[in-house]
Amino acid sequence: MDVELVRDDDPRIPSLEAAGYRLVGESWGARLRNPDRELLESAVLRASAAGLVVRELDSSYAEALFVLETANEKDYPYTPATHRVVGDLSRTEALWVDGRRVFGAFDASLLIAATVVSVFPERAETVFTSVLGDYRGRGIGQAVKAVSILALLSEGVQVFGTGGAGINEASLGANRALGYVLEERWRSYAPPTS
Ligand SMILES: CC(C)(COP(=O)(O)OP(=O)(O)OC[C@H]1O[C@@H](n2cnc3c(N)ncnc32)[C@H](O)[C@@H]1OP(=O)(O)O)[C@@H](O)C(=O)NCCC(=O)NCCS
Repeated sequence: MDVELVRDDDPRIPSLEAAGYRLVGESWGARLRNPDRELLESAVLRASAAGLVVRELDSSYAEALFVLETANEKDYPYTPATHRVVGDLSRTEALWVDGRRVFGAFDASLLIAATVVSVFPERAETVFTSVLGDYRGRGIGQAVKAVSILALLSEGVQVFGTGGAGINEASLGANRALGYVLEERWRSYAPPTS
């Protein structure tokens, strides 16, 4: 049987636990509904002041994104609801279709961070965000997300959604710093082993 993904207020939780289902992962969903432009601009400026260039990427950067994601794949915390499989280069190239947009940060010519966003008429959802190991904890994750939100805001997108693993404090921190509010928590339950 499959893993059951349930919201933390789901009334089925006591019966799942009583039946021996085991908690194997926790995840969350957060939304940004009224973005604060100044806050977002200051997140981008902080990275620019450190000498980085933060901007949208076209598909000619697929190989650079593939190299970044191959380096970072092991650092995405696994839960049944949240994980990242990079796959081969063609899978990265396919990120630029179906309304998705890609934004990144460069240190000189090296792509050191990226965020991929699915865009719907008035809503955008982060697909993933990552920062190269040596560059984490300096506001660069916030900067790439902020530049994406500013670009999409100017195109009429109103609501920005994102999510992640419960244990991913850096991801939670980066999103909260930009004004995202945690709206949902989810639990993954594996069926009892017989
Ligand atoms: C998640 C990730 C993108 C964050 O990028 P980052 O550049 O390190 O994040 P930032 O520095 O912009 O912001 C992190 C915030 O979380 C806070 N934080 C809390 N716990 C933290 C932790 N354990 N590690 C790092 N930051 C933490 C920081 O203080 C900071 O907030 P502040 O600016 O208000 O002080 C990066 O850690 C990463 O690439 N991880 C691997 C891939 C991944 O898990 N991606 C997310 C899932 S899609």
